[in-house]
Amino acid sequence: ARTIAFARAHSNIALVKYWGKRDETLNIPAVGSISITLDALSTGTRVTFDPGLDANLRQDEFWLNGQLTQAHRVSGLLDLVRERAGLTMRAVVTSTNDFPTGAGLASSASGFAALALAASAAAGLTLSTRELSMLARRGSGSAARSIFGGYVEMHTGTREDGRDAFAEPLLDAAAWPLCVVVAITDHAAKTVSSTHGMAGSRASSPFYPAWVDTGEQDLAEMRAAIVGRDFPRLGELAERSCLKLHALMLTSRPPLIYWNAGTVAAMHTVRELRDSGIPAYFTIDAGPQVKALCDPGDAAVVALALAETPGVLETRTSALGRGAHLVAA
Ligand code: DP6
Repeated sequence: ARTIAFARAHSNIALVKYWGKRDETLNIPAVGSISITLDALSTGTRVTFDPGLDANLRQDEFWLNGQLTQAHRVSGLLDLVRERAGLTMRAVVTSTNDFPTGAGLASSASGFAALALAASAAAGLTLSTRELSMLARRGSGSAARSIFGGYVEMHTGTREDGRDAFAEPLLDAAAWPLCVVVAITDHAAKTVSSTHGMAGSRASSPFYPAWVDTGEQDLAEMRAAIVGRDFPRLGELAERSCLKLHALMLTSRPPLIYWNAGTVAAMHTVRELRDSGIPAYFTIDAGPQVKALCDPGDAAVVALALAETPGVLETRTSALGRGAHLVAA
């Protein structure tokens, strides 16, 4: 019989960053990471297994935002689900981001978290959130965190089979509301993919061993900041992890320079806001957009200051969001 499931998952932004793997096949991060799940950016994904349709399909079909798209990584995740469910049928996957495509906003985290949930449900599997997190990890490391809402920690674990490399919730979104203002500085962000970039950093940056060695300490301090609801501490740590990550990127061969002039200007705007008494802190991933962390009550002021910064094209404000969930198909 035909089976369909629809799932939605939200994007997340790392406060303590993930960059580098201890196992590339199983996609196990070398160090843990801590993130917040965002409300405003999500992906909705429908997975259909249909025996009638299957006769006509030579491979899985992946539609992203209405366009037939290369399905290699999607099929890789579907294979894991099929293996587990004892299925051989190919699938049709339809995925839509609720944020403008090509805006250079991360989508692999929300995308693979939604796919892991929709595909496993369509295949008739009922997985625990921990199992789902490990499944999503195989698609993209950061996706393991988007299974959960609010404040989330991803563990690297110690096992070779990766059975202890999953994410876990640290704190509910409602327990400590926080806002993220995204300053978009390039709409057509063509960047080196995280997967390639981090492999290069591991192989070539003299800072990589220091990055791995200091990871546990960063995680411990961030955990304490979250438990203690200490926003300045959280913000300082987030900036430190971000700048350490970009130092690693800049010292890779070939160098990874994700920043443009607007990125740097936006970083300074955030620091100036802080000097004028508005607690805001920045973080930046493998792209040119700047994400400012602030109190919900300061979000409008922060968004305005960023919107007026030269090189900033537009801003988007997000509260914290919930974990991946099934929606009636
Ligand atoms: C800079 O999760 O996209 O956003 O596991 O290879 O798919 P893969 O990498 P990915 O890397 C995210 C890198 C980052 C930092 C982070 O989100 O922790």
